[in-house]
Amino acid sequence: MISFICNNREVFPDCSGGLPVLDWLRAQSGLKGTKEGCREGDCGACTVVLGKPGINGIEYSSVCSCLLPIGEVAGCHLVTIEGLTTGIELTPFQQSFYDEAASQCGFCTPGMIMSLTGCLLGSATLSVSSAMESLDGNICRCTGYIAVKRAVNSVISTLPAEWENRLEMLIEEGHIPAYFTSIEKRLKELPPQSVRAEDSLVAGGTDIYVHSSDKLSTEHPRFLSKEKSIKQIVTDGKTVTIGAAVTFKQLRESAVISDLFPNLEKFLLKVSSTQIRSRATVGGNIVNASPIADIAITFLALKATLCFSERSIPLSEFYLGYKKLDMLPDEILTEISFPTPEPGTILSSLKVAKREYLDIASVNSSMLIRVEENVVIAVRISAGGVAPFPLLLTGTSEYLMGRTLSEKTISEACSIAESEVSPISDVRGSKKYKINLLRAQVRAHLTRGLSNEAL
Ligand SMILES: Cc1cc2nc3c(=O)[nH]c(=O)nc-3n(C[C@H](O)[C@H](O)[C@H](O)COP(=O)(O)OP(=O)(O)OC[C@H]3O[C@@H](n4cnc5c(N)ncnc54)[C@H](O)[C@@H]3O)c2cc1C
Ligand code: FES
Ligand code: FES
Repeated sequence: MISFICNNREVFPDCSGGLPVLDWLRAQSGLKGTKEGCREGDCGACTVVLGKPGINGIEYSSVCSCLLPIGEVAGCHLVTIEGLTTGIELTPFQQSFYDEAASQCGFCTPGMIMSLTGCLLGSATLSVSSAMESLDGNICRCTGYIAVKRAVNSVISTLPAEWENRLEMLIEEGHIPAYFTSIEKRLKELPPQSVRAEDSLVAGGTDIYVHSSDKLSTEHPRFLSKEKSIKQIVTDGKTVTIGAAVTFKQLRESAVISDLFPNLEKFLLKVSSTQIRSRATVGGNIVNASPIADIAITFLALKATLCFSERSIPLSEFYLGYKKLDMLPDEILTEISFPTPEPGTILSSLKVAKREYLDIASVNSSMLIRVEENVVIAVRISAGGVAPFPLLLTGTSEYLMGRTLSEKTISEACSIAESEVSPISDVRGSKKYKINLLRAQVRAHLTRGLSNEAL
Protein backbone atom coordinates (compact mmCIF):
# COMPACT_ATOMS: atom_id res chain seq x y z
CA MET A 1 0.00 0.00 0.00
CA ILE A 2 1.28 3.46 -0.86
CA SER A 3 0.27 6.75 0.67
CA PHE A 4 0.80 10.42 -0.09
CA ILE A 5 -0.79 13.78 0.55
CA CYS A 6 -3.10 14.98 -2.20
CA ASN A 7 -3.66 18.71 -1.66
CA ASN A 8 -4.57 18.84 2.06
CA ARG A 9 -5.57 15.17 2.50
CA GLU A 10 -3.65 11.98 3.32
CA VAL A 11 -4.63 9.33 0.75
CA PHE A 12 -4.06 5.56 0.52
CA PRO A 13 -4.95 4.59 -3.08
CA ASP A 14 -5.68 0.93 -3.67
CA CYS A 15 -4.34 0.54 -7.22
CA SER A 16 -1.30 -0.62 -9.20
CA GLY A 17 1.80 1.57 -8.87
CA GLY A 18 1.81 1.98 -12.65
CA LEU A 19 -1.57 3.74 -12.87
CA PRO A 20 -1.11 7.24 -14.32
CA VAL A 21 -1.92 9.88 -11.69
CA LEU A 22 -4.26 11.55 -14.21
CA ASP A 23 -6.50 8.45 -14.24
CA TRP A 24 -6.51 8.20 -10.46
CA LEU A 25 -7.37 11.88 -10.12
CA ARG A 26 -10.23 11.91 -12.60
CA ALA A 27 -11.68 8.40 -12.13
CA GLN A 28 -11.03 7.59 -8.49
CA SER A 29 -10.45 10.74 -6.46
CA GLY A 30 -13.14 12.89 -8.06
CA LEU A 31 -10.70 15.76 -8.70
CA LYS A 32 -11.65 16.63 -12.27
CA GLY A 33 -10.05 20.07 -12.48
CA THR A 34 -6.99 18.35 -13.97
CA LYS A 35 -7.80 17.94 -17.67
CA GLU A 36 -7.03 15.13 -20.06
CA GLY A 37 -5.81 16.26 -23.49
CA CYS A 38 -3.20 14.37 -25.48
CA ARG A 39 -2.05 11.79 -22.87
CA GLU A 40 1.42 12.12 -24.43
CA GLY A 41 3.01 14.93 -22.43
CA ASP A 42 2.50 17.39 -25.26
CA CYS A 43 -0.36 19.69 -24.25
CA GLY A 44 0.13 20.37 -20.52
CA ALA A 45 -3.63 20.22 -19.75
CA CYS A 46 -2.95 17.54 -17.12
CA THR A 47 -0.22 19.49 -15.28
CA VAL A 48 0.00 19.00 -11.52
CA VAL A 49 2.68 20.05 -9.03
CA LEU A 50 4.68 17.33 -7.31
CA GLY A 51 6.49 18.04 -4.04
CA LYS A 52 9.24 15.60 -3.10
CA PRO A 53 11.01 15.68 0.27
CA GLY A 54 14.59 16.87 -0.37
CA ILE A 55 17.55 18.06 1.66
CA ASN A 56 16.26 21.63 1.74
CA GLY A 57 12.64 20.80 2.51
CA ILE A 58 10.06 19.90 -0.09
CA GLU A 59 11.14 20.43 -3.69
CA TYR A 60 8.21 21.27 -5.92
CA SER A 61 8.07 21.00 -9.70
CA SER A 62 5.35 20.85 -12.34
CA VAL A 63 4.85 17.50 -14.10
CA CYS A 64 2.44 15.91 -16.56
CA SER A 65 0.09 13.65 -14.61
CA CYS A 66 -0.66 11.59 -17.75
CA LEU A 67 2.94 10.28 -17.72
CA LEU A 68 3.32 10.09 -13.94
CA PRO A 69 2.84 6.66 -12.34
CA ILE A 70 1.09 6.84 -8.99
CA GLY A 71 3.82 4.71 -7.38
CA GLU A 72 6.22 7.63 -7.94
CA VAL A 73 4.04 9.85 -5.76
CA ALA A 74 4.42 7.61 -2.68
CA GLY A 75 5.58 9.74 0.26
CA CYS A 76 5.16 12.99 -1.72
CA HIS A 77 2.83 16.00 -1.88
CA LEU A 78 0.60 16.03 -4.96
CA VAL A 79 -1.02 19.39 -5.68
CA THR A 80 -3.87 19.82 -8.14
CA ILE A 81 -5.80 22.93 -9.14
CA GLU A 82 -8.32 22.15 -6.37
CA GLY A 83 -5.52 22.40 -3.78
CA LEU A 84 -4.60 26.01 -4.53
CA THR A 85 -7.42 27.50 -2.47
CA THR A 86 -9.55 26.23 0.39
CA GLY A 87 -12.74 28.09 -0.50
CA ILE A 88 -14.24 29.82 -3.53
CA GLU A 89 -11.59 32.55 -3.69
CA LEU A 90 -9.24 32.77 -6.68
CA THR A 91 -5.46 32.79 -6.56
CA PRO A 92 -3.76 35.92 -8.03
CA PHE A 93 -2.99 34.02 -11.25
CA GLN A 94 -6.58 32.80 -11.58
CA GLN A 95 -7.87 36.33 -10.97
CA SER A 96 -5.48 37.87 -13.48
CA PHE A 97 -6.35 35.27 -16.15
CA TYR A 98 -9.98 36.36 -15.60
CA ASP A 99 -9.19 40.09 -15.61
CA GLU A 100 -6.96 39.92 -18.70
CA ALA A 101 -9.28 37.58 -20.68
CA ALA A 102 -6.51 34.97 -20.82
CA SER A 103 -8.97 32.09 -20.84
CA GLN A 104 -11.60 31.44 -23.51
CA CYS A 105 -12.79 27.81 -23.44
CA GLY A 106 -10.72 27.34 -20.29
CA PHE A 107 -9.55 23.81 -21.08
CA CYS A 108 -5.85 24.70 -20.85
CA THR A 109 -6.25 27.09 -17.90
CA PRO A 110 -5.90 24.70 -14.92
CA GLY A 111 -2.70 23.31 -16.46
CA MET A 112 -1.30 26.81 -17.00
CA ILE A 113 -2.14 27.88 -13.45
CA MET A 114 -0.42 24.74 -12.12
CA SER A 115 2.71 25.38 -14.24
CA LEU A 116 2.87 28.95 -12.96
CA THR A 117 2.35 27.81 -9.36
CA GLY A 118 5.07 25.17 -9.85
CA CYS A 119 7.36 28.00 -10.99
CA LEU A 120 6.51 30.10 -7.92
CA LEU A 121 7.18 27.15 -5.63
CA GLY A 122 10.22 25.66 -7.30
CA SER A 123 12.16 27.93 -9.65
CA ALA A 124 15.46 29.45 -8.58
CA THR A 125 14.48 32.95 -9.74
CA LEU A 126 11.14 34.67 -10.09
CA SER A 127 10.74 36.92 -13.10
CA VAL A 128 8.29 37.38 -15.94
CA SER A 129 10.66 35.49 -18.24
CA SER A 130 11.06 32.52 -15.87
CA ALA A 131 7.27 32.44 -15.36
CA MET A 132 6.64 32.50 -19.13
CA GLU A 133 9.34 29.86 -19.55
CA SER A 134 7.43 27.62 -17.12
CA LEU A 135 4.54 27.61 -19.65
CA ASP A 136 6.67 26.09 -22.42
CA GLY A 137 4.79 22.78 -22.03
CA ASN A 138 1.27 24.28 -22.04
CA ILE A 139 -0.57 24.65 -25.29
CA CYS A 140 -3.62 26.87 -25.72
CA ARG A 141 -5.63 26.39 -28.89
CA CYS A 142 -8.05 29.28 -28.62
CA THR A 143 -6.93 32.27 -26.52
CA GLY A 144 -3.36 32.75 -27.70
CA TYR A 145 -0.48 33.76 -25.51
CA ILE A 146 -0.52 37.57 -25.52
CA ALA A 147 -3.32 37.75 -22.96
CA VAL A 148 -1.57 35.05 -20.93
CA LYS A 149 1.62 37.09 -20.91
CA ARG A 150 -0.34 40.16 -19.75
CA ALA A 151 -1.85 38.12 -16.92
CA VAL A 152 1.54 36.70 -15.89
CA ASN A 153 3.13 40.13 -16.04
CA SER A 154 0.52 41.72 -13.82
CA VAL A 155 0.99 39.08 -11.10
CA ILE A 156 4.79 38.79 -11.14
CA SER A 157 5.19 42.55 -11.01
CA THR A 158 3.22 42.63 -7.71
CA LEU A 159 5.47 40.09 -5.95
CA PRO A 160 7.84 41.51 -3.35
CA ALA A 161 11.41 41.76 -4.64
CA GLU A 162 12.86 40.30 -1.42
CA TRP A 163 11.52 37.78 1.01
CA GLU A 164 13.05 35.45 3.56
CA ASN A 165 10.75 32.47 3.27
CA ARG A 166 9.23 31.75 -0.11
CA LEU A 167 6.45 29.51 1.21
CA GLU A 168 5.31 32.16 3.69
CA MET A 169 5.45 34.89 1.05
CA LEU A 170 3.33 32.79 -1.36
CA ILE A 171 0.78 32.10 1.40
CA GLU A 172 0.69 35.79 2.28
CA GLU A 173 0.11 36.71 -1.37
CA GLY A 174 -2.69 34.13 -1.73
CA HIS A 175 -0.91 31.84 -4.24
CA ILE A 176 -1.15 28.79 -1.97
CA PRO A 177 -3.15 28.04 1.18
CA ALA A 178 -1.69 28.01 4.70
CA TYR A 179 -1.85 24.19 4.92
CA PHE A 180 1.36 24.04 2.81
CA THR A 181 3.40 24.79 5.94
CA SER A 182 2.17 21.57 7.61
CA ILE A 183 3.05 19.27 4.70
CA GLU A 184 6.71 18.55 5.51
CA LYS A 185 5.83 17.29 9.01
CA ARG A 186 2.79 15.35 7.81
CA LEU A 187 4.76 13.56 5.07
CA LYS A 188 7.13 12.26 7.76
CA GLU A 189 4.16 10.85 9.65
CA LEU A 190 2.91 8.75 6.72
CA PRO A 191 3.24 4.98 7.23
CA PRO A 192 6.33 3.34 5.64
CA GLN A 193 5.77 3.00 1.90
CA SER A 194 5.62 -0.44 0.34
CA VAL A 195 5.77 -0.02 -3.41
CA ARG A 196 5.67 -3.36 -5.26
CA ALA A 197 8.44 -3.53 -7.88
CA GLU A 198 7.88 -6.46 -10.22
CA ASP A 199 7.38 -5.35 -13.80
CA SER A 200 8.74 -2.87 -16.39
CA LEU A 201 11.60 -0.56 -15.47
CA VAL A 202 10.48 3.09 -15.42
CA ALA A 203 12.90 6.00 -15.08
CA GLY A 204 11.14 9.31 -15.85
CA GLY A 205 8.34 7.54 -17.73
CA THR A 206 8.30 10.24 -20.44
CA ASP A 207 9.05 7.77 -23.19
CA ILE A 208 7.60 4.47 -21.97
CA TYR A 209 4.27 5.99 -20.86
CA VAL A 210 3.74 7.59 -24.25
CA HIS A 211 3.59 4.21 -25.98
CA SER A 212 2.69 1.73 -23.19
CA SER A 213 0.43 3.59 -20.77
CA ASP A 214 -2.42 1.04 -20.93
CA LYS A 215 -0.11 -1.89 -20.22
CA LEU A 216 1.69 -0.08 -17.40
CA SER A 217 -1.60 0.99 -15.77
CA THR A 218 -2.10 -2.46 -14.29
CA GLU A 219 1.58 -3.18 -13.63
CA HIS A 220 3.78 -2.65 -10.59
CA PRO A 221 6.81 -1.00 -12.27
CA ARG A 222 10.31 -0.87 -10.85
CA PHE A 223 11.10 2.82 -10.32
CA LEU A 224 14.67 3.90 -11.00
CA SER A 225 14.06 7.16 -9.11
CA LYS A 226 14.07 5.16 -5.87
CA GLU A 227 17.81 4.47 -6.40
CA LYS A 228 19.30 7.55 -4.72
CA SER A 229 22.85 6.54 -5.66
CA ILE A 230 22.25 7.13 -9.39
CA LYS A 231 20.69 10.57 -9.10
CA GLN A 232 23.82 12.67 -8.67
CA ILE A 233 26.24 14.68 -10.78
CA VAL A 234 29.79 14.60 -9.38
CA THR A 235 33.31 15.35 -10.52
CA ASP A 236 36.78 14.53 -9.18
CA GLY A 237 38.36 17.08 -11.51
CA LYS A 238 39.36 14.47 -14.10
CA THR A 239 36.01 12.82 -14.81
CA VAL A 240 32.41 13.95 -14.59
CA THR A 241 29.99 11.23 -13.54
CA ILE A 242 26.25 11.56 -14.04
CA GLY A 243 23.80 9.10 -12.50
CA ALA A 244 21.49 7.54 -15.07
CA ALA A 245 18.46 8.73 -13.09
CA VAL A 246 19.55 12.39 -13.19
CA THR A 247 16.74 14.44 -14.75
CA PHE A 248 17.10 17.03 -17.52
CA LYS A 249 16.11 19.64 -14.90
CA GLN A 250 18.98 18.57 -12.65
CA LEU A 251 21.37 18.60 -15.60
CA ARG A 252 20.28 22.12 -16.55
CA GLU A 253 20.63 23.41 -13.00
CA SER A 254 23.95 21.66 -12.22
CA ALA A 255 26.86 23.96 -11.34
CA VAL A 256 29.32 21.20 -12.36
CA ILE A 257 27.87 21.21 -15.88
CA SER A 258 27.36 24.97 -16.27
CA ASP A 259 30.92 25.70 -15.10
CA LEU A 260 32.27 23.46 -17.87
CA PHE A 261 29.75 24.29 -20.58
CA PRO A 262 28.08 27.67 -20.05
CA ASN A 263 26.12 27.43 -23.32
CA LEU A 264 24.50 24.06 -22.64
CA GLU A 265 21.78 25.55 -20.43
CA LYS A 266 20.32 27.42 -23.40
CA PHE A 267 20.31 24.26 -25.52
CA LEU A 268 18.63 22.28 -22.72
CA LEU A 269 15.84 24.84 -22.65
CA LYS A 270 14.90 23.56 -26.11
CA VAL A 271 14.78 19.95 -24.94
CA SER A 272 11.15 18.99 -24.29
CA SER A 273 9.31 21.23 -21.78
CA THR A 274 9.46 22.25 -18.12
CA GLN A 275 7.09 19.43 -17.10
CA ILE A 276 9.00 16.79 -19.09
CA ARG A 277 12.43 18.05 -17.93
CA SER A 278 11.29 17.60 -14.32
CA ARG A 279 10.95 13.85 -14.95
CA ALA A 280 12.89 12.76 -18.07
CA THR A 281 16.26 11.19 -17.26
CA VAL A 282 19.64 11.20 -18.95
CA GLY A 283 19.74 7.37 -18.85
CA GLY A 284 16.26 7.09 -20.39
CA ASN A 285 17.30 9.37 -23.24
CA ILE A 286 20.33 7.22 -24.03
CA VAL A 287 18.55 3.87 -23.68
CA ASN A 288 15.45 4.80 -25.66
CA ALA A 289 17.85 5.19 -28.59
CA SER A 290 15.82 7.69 -30.56
CA PRO A 291 17.85 8.82 -33.60
CA ILE A 292 17.26 12.44 -32.48
CA ALA A 293 17.80 11.99 -28.72
CA ASP A 294 19.20 15.39 -27.70
CA ILE A 295 21.12 14.21 -24.63
CA ALA A 296 22.61 11.17 -26.37
CA ILE A 297 23.93 13.46 -29.12
CA THR A 298 25.55 15.74 -26.56
CA PHE A 299 27.16 12.89 -24.65
CA LEU A 300 28.54 11.35 -27.85
CA ALA A 301 30.48 14.56 -28.45
CA LEU A 302 31.68 14.47 -24.83
CA LYS A 303 33.24 11.01 -25.35
CA ALA A 304 30.97 9.48 -22.75
CA THR A 305 31.29 6.00 -21.29
CA LEU A 306 28.25 4.04 -20.13
CA CYS A 307 28.51 2.09 -16.87
CA PHE A 308 26.37 -0.95 -16.16
CA SER A 309 26.70 -3.00 -12.97
CA GLU A 310 29.19 -5.45 -14.51
CA ARG A 311 30.83 -3.54 -17.38
CA SER A 312 31.47 -0.23 -19.12
CA ILE A 313 31.39 0.62 -22.82
CA PRO A 314 31.92 3.78 -24.86
CA LEU A 315 28.60 5.39 -25.83
CA SER A 316 29.90 5.48 -29.42
CA GLU A 317 29.75 1.63 -29.47
CA PHE A 318 26.34 1.32 -27.79
CA TYR A 319 24.09 1.81 -30.82
CA LEU A 320 24.10 -1.12 -33.24
CA GLY A 321 21.15 -0.21 -35.49
CA TYR A 322 17.71 1.40 -35.28
CA LYS A 323 16.69 0.91 -31.60
CA LYS A 324 19.26 -1.91 -31.42
CA LEU A 325 21.58 -1.67 -28.44
CA ASP A 326 24.61 -3.46 -27.02
CA MET A 327 22.63 -4.17 -23.85
CA LEU A 328 21.16 -7.30 -22.26
CA PRO A 329 17.39 -7.36 -21.58
CA ASP A 330 17.71 -6.90 -17.81
CA GLU A 331 20.78 -4.67 -17.74
CA ILE A 332 20.46 -1.31 -16.01
CA LEU A 333 22.50 1.69 -17.06
CA THR A 334 23.76 3.16 -13.79
CA GLU A 335 26.12 6.00 -14.75
CA ILE A 336 27.40 8.03 -17.66
CA SER A 337 30.86 9.52 -17.32
CA PHE A 338 33.06 11.69 -19.52
CA PRO A 339 36.57 13.12 -19.19
CA THR A 340 36.75 16.71 -17.98
CA PRO A 341 37.74 18.69 -21.07
CA GLU A 342 41.01 20.62 -21.16
CA PRO A 343 40.68 24.35 -20.40
CA GLY A 344 39.65 26.27 -23.51
CA THR A 345 37.48 23.44 -24.85
CA ILE A 346 34.06 24.54 -26.10
CA LEU A 347 30.87 22.52 -26.36
CA SER A 348 28.50 23.81 -28.99
CA SER A 349 25.04 22.16 -29.35
CA LEU A 350 22.37 22.89 -31.93
CA LYS A 351 18.83 21.74 -32.57
CA VAL A 352 16.50 22.64 -35.41
CA ALA A 353 12.88 21.51 -35.10
CA LYS A 354 9.60 22.48 -36.71
CA ARG A 355 8.68 24.47 -33.59
CA GLU A 356 11.22 26.32 -31.49
CA TYR A 357 10.00 24.87 -28.17
CA LEU A 358 8.45 21.54 -27.20
CA ASP A 359 9.42 19.71 -30.33
CA ILE A 360 11.81 16.98 -31.27
CA ALA A 361 14.63 17.78 -33.66
CA SER A 362 14.67 17.49 -37.43
CA VAL A 363 18.44 17.56 -37.06
CA ASN A 364 20.52 18.17 -33.95
CA SER A 365 24.27 18.12 -33.44
CA SER A 366 27.01 18.75 -30.90
CA MET A 367 30.66 19.64 -31.27
CA LEU A 368 33.34 19.53 -28.59
CA ILE A 369 36.34 21.45 -29.86
CA ARG A 370 39.57 23.08 -28.76
CA VAL A 371 41.29 25.48 -31.10
CA GLU A 372 44.65 27.16 -30.51
CA GLU A 373 45.86 29.92 -32.82
CA ASN A 374 43.17 28.91 -35.31
CA VAL A 375 44.38 25.28 -35.42
CA VAL A 376 42.07 22.46 -34.28
CA ILE A 377 43.75 20.65 -31.38
CA ALA A 378 40.84 18.36 -30.40
CA VAL A 379 37.38 17.81 -31.86
CA ARG A 380 34.40 15.43 -31.75
CA ILE A 381 31.18 16.03 -33.69
CA SER A 382 27.93 14.08 -33.34
CA ALA A 383 24.59 14.43 -35.08
CA GLY A 384 21.01 13.18 -34.84
CA GLY A 385 18.18 12.83 -37.36
CA VAL A 386 20.63 11.83 -40.07
CA ALA A 387 21.07 8.09 -39.36
CA PRO A 388 19.11 5.26 -37.67
CA PHE A 389 20.70 6.18 -34.32
CA PRO A 390 22.66 9.06 -32.74
CA LEU A 391 25.82 9.20 -34.82
CA LEU A 392 29.41 10.18 -34.15
CA LEU A 393 30.83 11.91 -37.23
CA THR A 394 34.24 10.28 -37.01
CA GLY A 395 35.35 11.15 -40.57
CA THR A 396 34.57 14.83 -40.11
CA SER A 397 36.32 14.92 -36.74
CA GLU A 398 39.42 13.13 -38.13
CA TYR A 399 39.56 15.54 -41.07
CA LEU A 400 39.44 18.60 -38.83
CA MET A 401 42.16 17.46 -36.42
CA GLY A 402 45.31 19.54 -36.77
CA ARG A 403 43.91 21.75 -39.55
CA THR A 404 43.85 25.51 -39.71
CA LEU A 405 40.27 26.75 -39.70
CA SER A 406 39.82 28.45 -43.05
CA GLU A 407 36.79 28.75 -45.33
CA LYS A 408 38.21 25.87 -47.38
CA THR A 409 38.54 23.65 -44.27
CA ILE A 410 35.00 24.47 -43.13
CA SER A 411 33.49 23.76 -46.57
CA GLU A 412 35.37 20.48 -46.81
CA ALA A 413 34.21 19.49 -43.26
CA CYS A 414 30.59 20.13 -44.30
CA SER A 415 31.01 17.89 -47.36
CA ILE A 416 32.62 15.10 -45.32
CA ALA A 417 29.80 15.33 -42.76
CA GLU A 418 27.29 14.98 -45.61
CA SER A 419 29.08 11.86 -46.87
CA GLU A 420 28.87 10.22 -43.44
CA VAL A 421 25.09 10.37 -43.02
CA SER A 422 22.04 8.66 -44.49
CA PRO A 423 18.91 10.59 -43.46
CA ILE A 424 15.44 9.53 -44.58
CA SER A 425 12.55 11.74 -45.64
CA ASP A 426 9.83 11.81 -43.00
CA VAL A 427 7.47 14.20 -41.19
CA ARG A 428 10.43 16.12 -39.82
CA GLY A 429 11.77 16.99 -43.27
CA SER A 430 13.01 15.62 -46.56
CA LYS A 431 16.36 13.91 -46.92
CA LYS A 432 17.69 16.94 -48.80
CA TYR A 433 16.46 19.37 -46.12
CA LYS A 434 18.13 17.33 -43.36
CA ILE A 435 21.43 17.24 -45.25
CA ASN A 436 21.26 21.00 -45.67
CA LEU A 437 20.49 21.40 -41.97
CA LEU A 438 23.49 19.26 -41.05
CA ARG A 439 25.81 21.25 -43.32
CA ALA A 440 24.50 24.50 -41.85
CA GLN A 441 24.98 23.22 -38.31
CA VAL A 442 28.57 22.03 -38.91
CA ARG A 443 29.34 25.46 -40.36
CA ALA A 444 27.67 27.22 -37.43
CA HIS A 445 29.62 25.14 -34.89
CA LEU A 446 32.89 26.00 -36.62
CA THR A 447 32.15 29.70 -36.85
CA ARG A 448 29.72 31.16 -34.30
CA GLY A 449 30.09 28.17 -31.94
CA LEU A 450 33.81 28.82 -31.63
CA SER A 451 33.24 32.29 -30.26
CA ASN A 452 31.42 30.56 -27.39
CA GLU A 453 28.23 32.20 -28.55
CA ALA A 454 25.08 30.43 -27.36
CA LEU A 455 23.62 29.42 -30.73
C1 LIG B 1 6.27 15.86 -24.71
C2 LIG B 1 7.61 15.21 -24.88
C3 LIG B 1 8.65 15.95 -25.40
C4 LIG B 1 9.91 15.35 -25.56
N1 LIG B 1 10.90 16.11 -26.09
C5 LIG B 1 12.13 15.57 -26.23
C6 LIG B 1 13.17 16.36 -26.76
O1 LIG B 1 13.04 17.55 -27.05
N2 LIG B 1 14.39 15.76 -26.93
C7 LIG B 1 14.60 14.45 -26.60
O2 LIG B 1 15.72 13.97 -26.77
N3 LIG B 1 13.62 13.69 -26.10
C8 LIG B 1 12.38 14.21 -25.91
N4 LIG B 1 11.38 13.45 -25.41
C9 LIG B 1 11.61 12.03 -25.16
C10 LIG B 1 11.89 11.63 -23.70
O3 LIG B 1 11.44 12.61 -22.81
C11 LIG B 1 13.36 11.45 -23.44
O4 LIG B 1 13.90 10.53 -24.32
C12 LIG B 1 13.68 11.02 -22.02
O5 LIG B 1 15.05 11.18 -21.80
C13 LIG B 1 13.33 9.60 -21.70
O6 LIG B 1 13.77 9.35 -20.38
P1 LIG B 1 12.83 8.74 -19.27
O7 LIG B 1 13.61 8.73 -18.02
O8 LIG B 1 11.53 9.45 -19.21
O9 LIG B 1 12.65 7.28 -19.85
P2 LIG B 1 11.53 6.20 -19.53
O10 LIG B 1 10.31 6.49 -20.29
O11 LIG B 1 11.39 5.99 -18.07
O12 LIG B 1 12.27 4.92 -20.12
C14 LIG B 1 12.47 4.73 -21.51
C15 LIG B 1 12.99 3.29 -21.73
O13 LIG B 1 14.32 3.19 -21.26
C16 LIG B 1 14.43 2.23 -20.22
N5 LIG B 1 15.35 2.79 -19.24
C17 LIG B 1 15.29 4.04 -18.71
N6 LIG B 1 16.35 4.25 -17.92
C18 LIG B 1 17.09 3.13 -17.95
C19 LIG B 1 18.32 2.73 -17.34
N7 LIG B 1 18.99 3.54 -16.54
N8 LIG B 1 18.81 1.48 -17.60
C20 LIG B 1 18.14 0.65 -18.42
N9 LIG B 1 16.98 0.97 -19.03
C21 LIG B 1 16.47 2.19 -18.80
C22 LIG B 1 13.02 2.04 -19.67
O14 LIG B 1 12.86 0.75 -19.11
C23 LIG B 1 12.18 2.26 -20.92
O15 LIG B 1 12.13 1.09 -21.66
C24 LIG B 1 10.11 14.00 -25.20
C25 LIG B 1 9.05 13.27 -24.64
C26 LIG B 1 7.82 13.87 -24.48
C27 LIG B 1 6.71 13.06 -23.87
S1 FES C 1 -2.84 15.13 -21.29
FE1 FES C 1 -1.60 16.35 -22.64
S2 FES C 1 0.23 16.54 -21.48
FE2 FES C 1 -0.95 15.15 -20.31
S1 FES D 1 -8.48 28.78 -23.47
FE1 FES D 1 -9.14 27.24 -24.83
S2 FES D 1 -7.38 26.00 -25.06
FE2 FES D 1 -6.65 27.70 -23.96
